[in-house]
Amino acid sequence: MPRKRVAILISGRGSNMAALIEAAKDPAYPAEIVLVASNRPDAGGLATASSAGITTAVVDHKQFKDREAFERALQDVLETNRIDIVCLAGFMRLLTPWLISRWDQRMINIHPALLPAFKGLDTHERAIAAGAREHGATVHFVVPEMDSGPIIAQASVPVLPNDTPDTLAKRVLAVEHWIYPQALKAIAEGRATV
Ligand code: GAR
Repeated sequence: MPRKRVAILISGRGSNMAALIEAAKDPAYPAEIVLVASNRPDAGGLATASSAGITTAVVDHKQFKDREAFERALQDVLETNRIDIVCLAGFMRLLTPWLISRWDQRMINIHPALLPAFKGLDTHERAIAAGAREHGATVHFVVPEMDSGPIIAQASVPVLPNDTPDTLAKRVLAVEHWIYPQALKAIAEGRATV
């Protein structure tokens, strides 16, 4: 079976992106990363992707008059690159149903919490404030409602008594890098469907 053509959308440092690129170096992995696109020209992950020999694109949302124009430009880049699956990896723009419906069951996201707990931002700070004993990360299909699609993979970590948002984030990030490549593999092989 041909490997699935994957685009990763980022807004920042791109450590999850790097984990996916690393996994896809194995010729037996069922997906290849053919494009990394960022909505921010200064995203650190762009340089990491380029040095791994991956095509990069910037679709700067600030250059467009509205969300629709931005998403049309993004969709053009994805179509031009004949993308099969889109992975959001620290992509910090909400997408509209217009774009999401075009990628039904072919767009996934990683979220730093055990969904459905702690949707949205500042998840580590909120987990500590809530007194949670367990926290973690979730890979899920993207649906129009934020952080709500069917769950593909989850991993939990303990919240320790002296944790700060930073120490907890580090522990969660390690499991993010572990589950995201597994979730993408499952989808690329058609083993995870809705
Ligand atoms: C990751 O922790 C990811 O789960 C989170 O942003 C970080 C990006 O780090 N995503 C979200 O909060 C999405 N709502 P990375 O750029 O190093 O992968």
